[in-house]
Amino acid sequence: EEWSAMEGKRQAGIRAAGFVTDGMTVGLGTGSTVYHTILKLGEMAKEGLKLRCVSTSEATTNLAESLNLTLVPMSEVEEIDITIDGADEVDRSFCGIKGGGGALLYEKLVADISRRVIWVVDRSKLVDRLGAFPLPVEIVPFSHVQLMRKLRAMGFSPRLRMAGNCPFLTDEKNYIIDLKTGFIDDPEGLHRQLKLMPGVIETGLFIAMADTVVVGSEDGAEVLES
Ligand code: A5P
Repeated sequence: EEWSAMEGKRQAGIRAAGFVTDGMTVGLGTGSTVYHTILKLGEMAKEGLKLRCVSTSEATTNLAESLNLTLVPMSEVEEIDITIDGADEVDRSFCGIKGGGGALLYEKLVADISRRVIWVVDRSKLVDRLGAFPLPVEIVPFSHVQLMRKLRAMGFSPRLRMAGNCPFLTDEKNYIIDLKTGFIDDPEGLHRQLKLMPGVIETGLFIAMADTVVVGSEDGAEVLES
């Protein structure tokens, strides 16, 4: 990874922590950008800020625990004040592709009950049209061979995501298929089409979920509002 992208992630991640205030319930996303937010929130909590955090993955749970952040289970949360998360691509209307790290299902469920969703990205992830990044789709393992066949017939060149010699397992113990979609003209239509296929649990298309995008570069961070 290039230095400028790494620095952009750091700048965006840290800036987004500034939106969090005392007493909030905060959704913690997953990935190498929100990592910087979580570190910053750990510092803020150490200095006395009271937070309740909801995690979107085992990786984030481990990080949050190592920083002594207070975690509450999803089952005990009615509403989340702010969720901060990364994304793989974001377009100008704040539609995005997520799931490069495999946590799209919990990320979408946490975003869904959040009053405000903030995405943190380095500049290279802002695009005119989504679709250069392979679209992650979480699926039921039982029928993965049949789903792969259908998606291949639809022209998506599906790849079953692997972890070494075995299929990658999500935190819900599902599989992920990465699709080559080409440029996506109608993100919502594609999401619906995929979601209606039996065995598809969730897609990495996040439509009208982000309220704010914090874009980082080597010079600092810019805040975009929807
Ligand atoms: C995790 O499943 C993804 O949705 C991440 O949020 C996304 O891949 C961004 O990751 P980075 O911040 O590490 O680029």
